[in-house]
Amino acid sequence: MFDLSEESPADWWEVEALYDLCFAPGRTALSSYRLRDGVEPVRGLSMVARDREGILAGAIRYWPVQVGDAPALLLGPVAVHPTHQGEGLGALLIQGSLERAVALGWERVMLVGDAPYYRRFGFEPLQGVVMPPPTNPDRVLGQALRAGAWDGVTGNVTRVPG
Ligand SMILES: CC(C)(COP(=O)(O)OP(=O)(O)OC[C@H]1O[C@@H](n2cnc3c(N)ncnc32)[C@H](O)[C@@H]1OP(=O)(O)O)[C@@H](O)C(=O)NCCC(=O)NCCS
Repeated sequence: MFDLSEESPADWWEVEALYDLCFAPGRTALSSYRLRDGVEPVRGLSMVARDREGILAGAIRYWPVQVGDAPALLLGPVAVHPTHQGEGLGALLIQGSLERAVALGWERVMLVGDAPYYRRFGFEPLQGVVMPPPTNPDRVLGQALRAGAWDGVTGNVTRVPG
């Protein structure tokens, strides 16, 4: 029903429009966006889903970040068009891209989001991992893509050097 592919540079503004539709106004003022400023998303993991007519139905992007000295993936934004929500597309985008992340050798992934949604994909609250303020620490979640990859990894989440 949906065609999933890697996001290409030509998809950029269409994905931005989908995010504008799906998130509250002012989304780019969120602290997580300061970690993305001037940094390219991870191309092999950022994906778009199109319906049979080729219309964008969902998208997921990832950015590289540092946690202390350790590299990590920052999942998000992820959004599904309101007309397609609840059809499993969000799960498809998240699970499919996480499998790619493992295959590409990424060891740990984090995000800022609703634990009740992300728990089903294996995300749990991260202790001692500090997002730029203002961020509710209860919404800072992570998942080890290699066993034990979050053990001992703490500190401020920072932008990768440009
Ligand atoms: C969150 C989002 C990506 C999920 O995509 P989706 O394709 O609708 O999700 P799925 O069909 O895979 O899963 C739907 C299930 O997730 C649940 N769910 C969706 N958002 C949730 C949330 N914030 N908290 C808890 N559960 C949530 C639904 O209730 C539904 O539950 P069910 O399986 O028991 O019926 C989509 O709703 C969206 O774009 N929302 C607006 C943007 C957003 O909030 N993005 C996430 C930022 S952290």
